[in-house]
Amino acid sequence: MEERTPLIAGNWKMYKTGNEAVETAEKLLELVSDVETTDIMIAPTFTSLALVSKVIGNSNIALGAQNIYWEKEGAFTGEISGPMLVSAGCQYVIIGHSERRQYFGETNNTVNKKIFAATKSGLIPIVCVGETAAERNEEKTFSVLDKQIEKGLEGLTLDEHQSIVLAYEPVWAIGTGKTATPDQVQEVHFYLRDLIEKRFGNMLAKTIRILYGGSVKPDNVSELMALPDIDGALVGGASLQPDSFSKIINF
Ligand code: PGA
Repeated sequence: MEERTPLIAGNWKMYKTGNEAVETAEKLLELVSDVETTDIMIAPTFTSLALVSKVIGNSNIALGAQNIYWEKEGAFTGEISGPMLVSAGCQYVIIGHSERRQYFGETNNTVNKKIFAATKSGLIPIVCVGETAAERNEEKTFSVLDKQIEKGLEGLTLDEHQSIVLAYEPVWAIGTGKTATPDQVQEVHFYLRDLIEKRFGNMLAKTIRILYGGSVKPDNVSELMALPDIDGALVGGASLQPDSFSKIINF
């Protein structure tokens, strides 16, 4: 199997003021500065990006944003563009998180536009997909994922040189303490890799990193990371504390 460098990404959501974000990043940096074999990313709120960027500098921790708008600039009150995120120090951007789909009208169509905007700016998109509890109960998991991938990645020409990351986040496992079972996670990740192979070919399918997200904690991360098609984690709650996040990074 191809070697894929694991990626452990922290989504800080709407937590932490600027000072708190700086303090957390400083502590985290102390705890993980010797990590070499795993990529690390933290995504604070927009107002903390430049502050945290100064703390992590050129260290082994990369900076990510939690959202992006697809225009470069213009009269779009409240939005942030790719070039602005890059100038704040970002290398990654989370796109299509289920909270954005649920509360802020994000659709597969807007996800698609945002992925184009991110790659154009040189940002690595972390594209989130996943089914709700009701969809899983109605056995619609795979058809939901089909649509999210088909529409979300529509028109993109990706090859193994183009960095894009997928994150499978079953909505029912986010912030609930309910982690999907290893069998459920592996089944979906295998399915997603197969979809990528059909759509973009074997090379990208082998190299693309597929993260799992949804109540990842220090005590369940190693079991998840041992699965063949899991290449990392997108962590919410447990990424807010440097101690617990560093344990996850050192899975
Ligand atoms: P959680 O969030 O780890 O708190 O479940 C994951 C996410 O929303 O990315």
